[in-house]
This record gives sequence, C-alpha cells and structure tokens, in this order.
Amino acid sequence: MNNITLAPVQTDQPSHLMPVFGRQPISFVRGQGAHLYTADGTEYLDALTGIAVCGLGHSHPAITAAIAEQAATLIHTSNLFEVPWQTAAAQKLAEVAGMEEVFFSNSGAESNEGAIKIARKFGHMQGVASPKIIVADHSFHGRTMATLSATGNKKVQEGFGPLVEGFIRVPFGDIEAIEEAAIHHPDIVAILVEPIQGEGGVNTAPQGFSYLEEIRRICNQHNWLMMLDEVQTGNGRTGKYFAYQHTNIIPDVLTTAKGLGNGFPIGAVMTQGRGVGVLTAGNHGSTYSGTALGSRVVYTVIDTIQKENLVENAANMGAYLVEQFTEQLAEQNVTVRGFGLMVGIELPKACGELVNIARDEHHLIINVTAGSVIRLLPTLNINKKQADILIERIVKMVKNFLA
Ligand SMILES: Cc1ncc(COP(=O)(O)O)c(C=O)c1O
Repeated sequence: MNNITLAPVQTDQPSHLMPVFGRQPISFVRGQGAHLYTADGTEYLDALTGIAVCGLGHSHPAITAAIAEQAATLIHTSNLFEVPWQTAAAQKLAEVAGMEEVFFSNSGAESNEGAIKIARKFGHMQGVASPKIIVADHSFHGRTMATLSATGNKKVQEGFGPLVEGFIRVPFGDIEAIEEAAIHHPDIVAILVEPIQGEGGVNTAPQGFSYLEEIRRICNQHNWLMMLDEVQTGNGRTGKYFAYQHTNIIPDVLTTAKGLGNGFPIGAVMTQGRGVGVLTAGNHGSTYSGTALGSRVVYTVIDTIQKENLVENAANMGAYLVEQFTEQLAEQNVTVRGFGLMVGIELPKACGELVNIARDEHHLIINVTAGSVIRLLPTLNINKKQADILIERIVKMVKNFLA
C-alpha cells in the first residue's frame, strides 16, 4: 500500500465538472472486498457497490490481475482486427446468458441503444415503415436520447424534447394494456422491459415473473421481439445468472452492463432466436467495442462468478436478507421485496435522508430509490457475518427512523 497514490491532492480551486450529479459529501480512496475507505482510513460497509456494479467486491485479486496484466500486454487494437479476448468473452457470456450473438458496448444505455436499433431494423425487414416498441411506466433504460425517451420517468426526459418517437408506454405488469396496444398499433415490433425495475423501486410485476412468460406468449403470437433490459439484474445479481432464468422462457434480445465489468465500463447487447442476424456488417459499431482489456475483464468476471459460486451465494444470502428484514421489521409497516442480492425495503414514508444517516451514523453505504425504497445491492460474495452486520445496521436505523 505504501507507495500507491490513492488520489490526487485536493485543491481549493473551483470545480470544472459539469454539475449533473448530486454528490454526497464524502469520497473514498480505497476499496477492499465489501468495504470502502476514506483517506483517513475510516471503513464503510458498501451495500450499493457502485450501483450494482462491483459484484465481486472492490479490488478483487482476479480482476486486478487481469487488468494489470492485460494493460501491460495490449489494451486496444480496434475491430479492424480479430480480438481473441473478445471472441473468448463473447463465448463465455453467450453460454451463461443462453444467447447466440453478442455485441460489446460501453455502458447500459449503449446496450439498450443497440436493442432499439435491432427492433427497428427487425421491423423494417418486415416492411414496417415506422416500427414501434412497447415500454413500461417507471422503467429506466439510460440517458442517451433514445433510451431516455424509452424511460418511463418524466424527470429524466424534462428539458430534452423532442423525444425520440416510436415508443408506446404501458403500465408495468399490465398484460391487458399490451394486448390493447397490439389491437391499435399494427406497427409494434418489440417489447422492452426490465425483469425487475431497479431505479423504479425494486419492482417485480404484481404477477411476479409470470409477467415475462405472458410477454413471451404475446411476442410469439405477433412475431415481436421480446427484449429484456438486464443492465441491473444481470450477472448473478438476482440469484440466477440473468433474471429471466427464474422463468422457463428466453428473450430474443438481452442487454446488460454494470456487473459485467465489475467497474470496468463495458456492456453487451445479445440476441438469440428471431433476434439473430438482424444487425449485419456496417449496421452497428463503436470504436471501443470489446477492447482486449475490456473483454479480458468480462471473461475474468464470469470465470470468477462461476469458480466462486457467486450466483448461488447471491440466491442464499439474498433469501436470508429478505427473511431477516421481513421478520425483524414485522412491526414497522414496511414491505420487503427483491430477488437475490437486489433487495428493496419500502417504507411507509419518504426516506431519502436515510442515505446520509446510514453513512454518517452507521458507516453503511446504501441508496434510496423511488422516494421511499431503501435499495440494497451488496457484493455477490457477501458472507454471513457481513450480512448480519448489514441487517443489524439497517434494522436499527429503520426502527429509529419510523419510531
Ligand atoms: C435497468 C437499467 N438500464 C439501463 C441503465 C443505464 O446504464 P448506464 O448508466 O450504464 O448507461 C441502468 C442504470 O442504472 C439501469 O438500471
């Protein structure tokens, strides 16, 4: 540790950063496993993991070694050449995702842009001049123009009109609304939803995952693409490698990012079934698509998740968290929900200030989403002892807050 520069010296000059983020008054200079550390060495339990990103924990030795070795060997050549690590990463990802084709992007939003392009091209291939995609209320798909237009949150869209057209919005979980839309819009070509809405409040559909099975049935009936945004729910987070694997169906298009790179910025859009072969040479691309460095990270992340049985751990520890919160907060009028290590605790009132209380009084990093939902996204390798500490701190804090 001694000779490592942890962060540049702070200056008192005005910041040149665009003020788009509401930042907390703290910064971390080091991370180790499930913990983050400030410059003075104070330890915080991280139950947010960079918003569902660092599933393997901070500074995981396999990821650190993969990045260091590859950075010292070859970082990037462009896709004008074969990239062996990209081929290997795609093979590994396709296997765990049950998909056939993989395109590596650089973020979740870009992965969803790829999905939207696939849907439109799929429509045009069938002579649909103005293809439409069904999306859900309270969804979040990203901040680029097309993905913010697909997003079901007015705040994200405000000030950026005209929005990208071609999206038809329905209430999340409402199958009748989809069937109704099918009657009125003959130019629908696809549905894009999150299996569990993350930013929207850790929401599963009221009918649970059978919602996805119903969507699959409708997509088959109308020859639409079933597209799932697993940017947040993918990569072991919900106790299956991808959340759709809680069901018996498989989507045509699957997007992911976040946990795919454990902090290295990389995402993917994948296809199988009727999604295969839609995008062809010259249709899509990105300078950074699947660099040698990024691809090796993806390969290593998947390899590590498999070797360390982290999907099983996420399922077991997640079930334990939900059980304990439900039991220990039984008298607090809260709703505990989630799958695997994507856990939401909905309080009966707005609770945004709990982020500060958790951090300052309990040395715990959490997030509050949709105004009143504590969202927990701890490391996939969280152990029982760490889970018990997390439970103890959250229960104490919620009881105090609601007293
Ligand atoms: C479901 C979902 N889709 C897309 C995104 C956008 O991902 P990114 O921020 O990497 O562009 C997010 C980010 O929170 C997300 O949760």
